[in-house]
Amino acid sequence: MAEIITKELNKKFGDFTAVSNTNLKINNGEFFVLLGPSGCGKTTTLRMIAGLELPTSGNIFLDSEDVTFLRASQRDIAFVFQLFALYPHMNVEKNIGYPLKTQRVARSEIKRRVKEVAKMLHLEHILKSKVSGLSGGDRQRVALGRAIIRRPKAFLMDEPLGALDAEFRELMCSELKKLHTDIDATTIYVTHDQNEAMSMGDRIGVMDKGVILQADDPLTLYNKPRTMFVANFIGSPAMNFLPIHTGISRGCKSVNINGYSLSVPECHEASTSDFNYLGVRPENIVIADNNRDGFQGTVFGVEYLGVRKIITVDTAVGRVKVRSANNLAVKINDTVNLKFNSKSIILFNSDDGRAIRSEFIS
Ligand SMILES: Nc1ncnc2c1ncn2[C@@H]1O[C@H](COP(=O)(O)OP(=O)(O)OP(=O)(O)O)[C@@H](O)[C@H]1O
Ligand SMILES: [Mg+2]
Repeated sequence: MAEIITKELNKKFGDFTAVSNTNLKINNGEFFVLLGPSGCGKTTTLRMIAGLELPTSGNIFLDSEDVTFLRASQRDIAFVFQLFALYPHMNVEKNIGYPLKTQRVARSEIKRRVKEVAKMLHLEHILKSKVSGLSGGDRQRVALGRAIIRRPKAFLMDEPLGALDAEFRELMCSELKKLHTDIDATTIYVTHDQNEAMSMGDRIGVMDKGVILQADDPLTLYNKPRTMFVANFIGSPAMNFLPIHTGISRGCKSVNINGYSLSVPECHEASTSDFNYLGVRPENIVIADNNRDGFQGTVFGVEYLGVRKIITVDTAVGRVKVRSANNLAVKINDTVNLKFNSKSIILFNSDDGRAIRSEFIS
């Protein structure tokens, strides 16, 4: 196990900043996910921690040792990438045992450890098979086996399930999490898939344009996003944002949206902008029956999702998504009144997209 710290980590490619001032502390045994859209700098961050890329400035510590200038092979970190390179001419057993062979570990010990790893990854029945004939899921298990067998201090995984189809991904997600619990190694896992991140991460660092915007546990990220980007990136459907065409003062407890006054958690700071947004998740809006005391709109669409349904409502200030029980009787073109769960509302500053501090969000 290891603690991984990055301090003011920067990476530039010419004039372009791929990673900007990253400060991370990943705890012993933690499953930390780096989540963000394509090109935001996830792989670059991981490659610097792995020792495959030299930072432009900043430092990396592994268990308090400054490893910034150590080669990858000197860092006792294993990595698994999306495009896993197995040795096609070797069978599963030889592929998994290969890292130990290069370390000149005794043959009997290699055999013992391959068996142990194969058991953990459910590969015992195919140990003698050639890897070239295996399914994507099995090949990825072999790649994991080869990483695990070294018993490294930490694992770095870059979209390791990206090449698998949806069904396999789901299965491997839970297997990976179980594996992490069993071997108890610090893991950094990169993905652009919020569902994968939310289901696996002890903590998730959300990245955009080279910057880690927020690193928190999944529930905190979901309920208390610090920026509109995080609020929008996590949750499906995403949070609704309604425009507020006024400033927001400190101590304010309600906002005006298109002439309708909505209660909000008391603001602990004023907004620096005259234009702001009200953020509310789809499950925090209720469609109030036969009630004129609400925020009015017209039903644009209804999607059934098992026990829940998503109702899309067109309002005077834009389209709003509502998550409601499946038995709610609404149909397209119905006029409905929306009621907001005031306690969960977050206000955002339109200048920088930052959440305005309030009773609900600090
Ligand atoms: N060797 C390089 N030379 C120049 N630019 C690079 C290099 N490597 C990465 N970049 C740029 O740095 C940015 C971050 O790349 P990176 O691969 O870290 O993104 P990512 O978050 O992993 O994206 P993806 O989800 O697509 O894998 C991108 O704009 C990329 O084009
Ligand atoms: Mg990448």
